[in-house]
Amino acid sequence: MFDDRFNDYKPTDYSDYAVNEHVTSPDELPTDINDNILRPTTLDEYVGQDKIKENLRVFIHSAKERGEALDHVLLYGPPGLGKTTLSKIIANEMGVDIKSSSGPAFEKNADLVASLSNLRGNAVFFVDEIHRLNRTTEELLYPAMEDFVVDFTIGQGPSARVMKLNIEPFTLVGATTKAGNISAPLRDRFGIICRLELYTPEQLALIVRRSAKILNVNIDDKACIEIASRSRGTPRIANRLLKRVRDFAQFEGSPTVTVEIADKALLRLEVDKLGLNNVDRTILSTMIEKFDGGPVGLDTLAAATGEEPQTIEDVYEPFLMQLGFIARTPRGRIVLKGAYEHLGYTYGNKAVERNLLNWNSGDHND
Ligand SMILES: Nc1ncnc2c1ncn2[C@@H]1O[C@H](COP(=O)(O)OP(=O)(O)OP(=O)(O)O)[C@@H](O)[C@H]1O
Ligand SMILES: [Mg+2]
Repeated sequence: MFDDRFNDYKPTDYSDYAVNEHVTSPDELPTDINDNILRPTTLDEYVGQDKIKENLRVFIHSAKERGEALDHVLLYGPPGLGKTTLSKIIANEMGVDIKSSSGPAFEKNADLVASLSNLRGNAVFFVDEIHRLNRTTEELLYPAMEDFVVDFTIGQGPSARVMKLNIEPFTLVGATTKAGNISAPLRDRFGIICRLELYTPEQLALIVRRSAKILNVNIDDKACIEIASRSRGTPRIANRLLKRVRDFAQFEGSPTVTVEIADKALLRLEVDKLGLNNVDRTILSTMIEKFDGGPVGLDTLAAATGEEPQTIEDVYEPFLMQLGFIARTPRGRIVLKGAYEHLGYTYGNKAVERNLLNWNSGDHND
């Protein structure tokens, strides 16, 4: 079924992917801009995160019945799990407008005052990357969140006067990937705090199925599961892999995405059976080969792999920890048994030699 054409496969539409690992980056890429059509718009369409959904349903229902703005909502969790999507759903379910912005956008207090005073009708005010608000802007938010007033300073020096400006009730929906960087006073002013979890393969398969329908892609159930289980628990990656796999199917002249095509395409994109990419594998093999499996400090690991410490911590580690491949200890990161086995190393062998079994063998000897 597969012929040599796959060897020459040159993707035509992702010239901005310098390397394949971008395919499995949970961060938003320029090629994701069309993803708006894939965003669910109601809680019913939003797959997974059941506890969050059920709670929001109650809070939204009650706030609507009282004719009030919904309490302020803080959404946190790794990139690509659906925070921005959920903010739009909240506005949609409340039947109110949404104004979207992001923490770094508020350079001056006046910027925030202008945004807040333009909100009408219990609107949702979405602030992405809320951990990046500067201190004075953040302090301006406190009375706005509590009493719907902002203190606004007019003039400078001794003649400066503080004005109190009433604003209309609104719902602040803050999103962040770094809940730890949010100050306690800000966090305490959110009535509803939701932590988004990585998705299970079954949930991601539903998302792939739904996206395939929207994109008019015929796909087998098994192929949905295959893509889902290689998407690092992240809907954004699942949608991206679906599009890339669709390209392979089209190139192959196959009207349906089968599990074989999905598997072949994902291998070609260097996404392994568990969804690890080259960077994940480099991190693990560096820890095993150069540091005897650890413990190794984050900065040392970053230097040895050529990745930013922050990137390792935010992008790679959560998934590797979820797989049970690495753990954090007070003395640094260690590699666990499952990772040795997955990469074909002998566990516990200090002078580790790379086994001939590499990550894509076993199932695929082509
Ligand atoms: N629960 C879900 N059900 C279906 N699709 C989802 C769900 N969550 C996210 N998606 C899809 O994943 C994509 C990424 O989601 P979104 O942009 O909301 O993530 P995010 O958490 O805001 O990421 P970031 O931290 O990078 O801002 C969306 O385009 C959407 O189509
Ligand atoms: Mg977002």
